Formats: sequence, C-alpha cells, structure tokens
Amino acid sequence: MDEAVIYTILGEAGFTKMVAAFYRRIVKDDLIGPMYPKDQLVEAEERLRDFLLFRFGNDPRYQAKRGHPRLRMRHAPFAIGEAEAVRWIELMDEAMDETKVPASIQMELRTFFTMVSHNMKNQ
Ligand code: HEM
Repeated sequence: MDEAVIYTILGEAGFTKMVAAFYRRIVKDDLIGPMYPKDQLVEAEERLRDFLLFRFGNDPRYQAKRGHPRLRMRHAPFAIGEAEAVRWIELMDEAMDETKVPASIQMELRTFFTMVSHNMKNQ
C-alpha cells in the first residue's frame, strides 16, 4: 500500500486520535512511561503526531519546528533495548485498535513502527 494512500484514508484526524490514544497509555506505562518528560507531554504528543503527518503526508509542520527528524540521535538519551521497543509497539497496537484504524492500514503501520522501534535500540 502506498504511503499517500494511508494518509488519505486515515487523515490528519485519524493520526491525531491514534497518537492521543498512544500517549494516554504512555503516561501509565511502567517501563517506558518514566522516560517521557512529564512537563512536556502535550508537546511530545504533538511531535510524534507531526512526525507521522510528515512521514506519511508530507505535512511541513514537523520539519518547520524540529528540522531533520534524526530519530536515532534524538532517542540516544533513553536506554532502549528489546523490551522497550516491544512495549512501544504493543502500546501503539492498542492505540490503533482503540481508534479503529482499518486492519489493512494497521498492518502497514505496524511494519513501519516495528522497523523504526528496533532501529531505536541502543543496548
Ligand atoms: C523503541 C521504543 C521507543 C521509546 C522508548 C521511545 C521514547 C521516546 C521518548 C522518551 C521521547 C521524548 C519525548 C519528547 O519529548 O518528544 C521520544 C521522542 C520521539 N519519538 Fe520515540 N520512542 C520509541 C520509538 C519510537 C518510534 C518507533 C517512533 C516513530 C515511529 C518514535 C518517534 C519519536 C518522535 C518523532 C519523537 C520526537 C522527536 C523530536 O524531538 O522531535 N519513537 N521517544
């Protein structure tokens, strides 16, 4: 499936709902929740949302605010191993279920999230 098709079907509203559901889980999570900045959760949620809108829909907001994503570098301060990567994917799976992301899109996004998550491992 083409990435532009994912964006067309899910839309900005779909990505926004999905990331909000993900962050509702992040704040309660025992393993990776503590890594996220408590005083910047609204901004952090927006960063992930804007990144996905950029990645799938070429939306300019992420780059305007953050420049090049450099995700590996930006994740370097956090200790991310197999368990943390797996947990991230689980929480996003739950968020996609909750917000009823269509099954075909869930499969595509899961492939992408799995690849990126494992690429963030630094131990
Ligand atoms: C492997 C498990 C992961 C952990 C433990 C993790 C953790 C974090 C933490 C603690 C932050 C800082 C929050 C903030 O201030 O923005 C962050 C930022 C971010 N993460 Fe992750 N992350 C993981 C995987 C991913 C994946 C798979 C993606 C993309 C698909 C992603 C995309 C981002 C983005 C876009 C930001 C904001 C970068 C910026 O500063 O502009 N992360 N992540």
